[in-house]
Amino acid sequence: MIDQVVSHYSSSGGLVDLIANSLRTAGKDLNGLKTADLAAVDEFHIRGRKATLELAEQMMLNENSRVLDIGSGLGGPARTLAEVYGCHVTGLDLTQAFCDAAKAMSGWVNLAERVAFQQGDAMNLPFAADEFDAAMTIHVAMNIPAKDKVYEQARRVMKPGGVFAVYDVLQGEGGDVVFPVPWAREPGISHLATPDEMKSLLTDAGFKVLNIHDSTDESRVWFEARADRLAQSGPPPVTFQAFLGDDYPEMVRNQVRNLAERRIRTISYICEC
Ligand SMILES: C[S@@+](CC[C@H](N)C(=O)[O-])C[C@H]1O[C@@H](n2cnc3c(N)ncnc32)[C@H](O)[C@@H]1O
Repeated sequence: MIDQVVSHYSSSGGLVDLIANSLRTAGKDLNGLKTADLAAVDEFHIRGRKATLELAEQMMLNENSRVLDIGSGLGGPARTLAEVYGCHVTGLDLTQAFCDAAKAMSGWVNLAERVAFQQGDAMNLPFAADEFDAAMTIHVAMNIPAKDKVYEQARRVMKPGGVFAVYDVLQGEGGDVVFPVPWAREPGISHLATPDEMKSLLTDAGFKVLNIHDSTDESRVWFEARADRLAQSGPPPVTFQAFLGDDYPEMVRNQVRNLAERRIRTISYICEC
């Protein structure tokens, strides 16, 4: 199952060159980039950088914070937090190609000292107890059946009182997910919790849930805008299509339908450790 998840996210080789070329095509100078310039490709979740900043505002971060990003992907959310709050962020991700790209891209925005990325499994975090002041995980658990292990591990490595921010795609009440979607081309690697299950998973792991925000309608509007742009002018130079491949437009159309028919929902949970 883990191999299938990795191969889903690793379908394109030469990721760093692909992204560098797409930025040049968009007219960006690779010297002097800011994290916002990378957001169209490295904030790999619904509502992108805006959603990351909304979570971060609630994480009580400052320049002394040591933060863990579980399932850090290409490193966009980690770099955004490091740039905006001056904190140090460690990202862990299953996909080696994403960890390699995340390291290279951090150099482009002069954040290599404040972020670190390593390959690993969210179900078995290679960190000591109480190592982090805060943690987040964005759009990762939908690939993981044993979510209880992820949240137990998150709690173990966090200091008591720290904030754990979770933002995920959940199973809605409108029926089965229509595939392909950005996290899976078929149901075998898609494991969505319902909102009730998610709340129980977090509380059973020992977290206190402080705030829940359902952004499903905002997510639908966000995907509708992408679908309209793709229909009118094709893929923009800098987009997730760089690594998701040619069925990305179909994924976007399916996401509009999944959200409109409430087959999926997007919900964030701010928890205290
Ligand atoms: C949709 S991407 C989100 C990446 C990042 N959180 C973001 O928002 O930009 C999902 C990520 O979860 C990672 N992932 C899936 N299963 C994982 C696991 N068991 N442990 C660690 N990472 C995992 C994938 O490799 C992929 O990078």
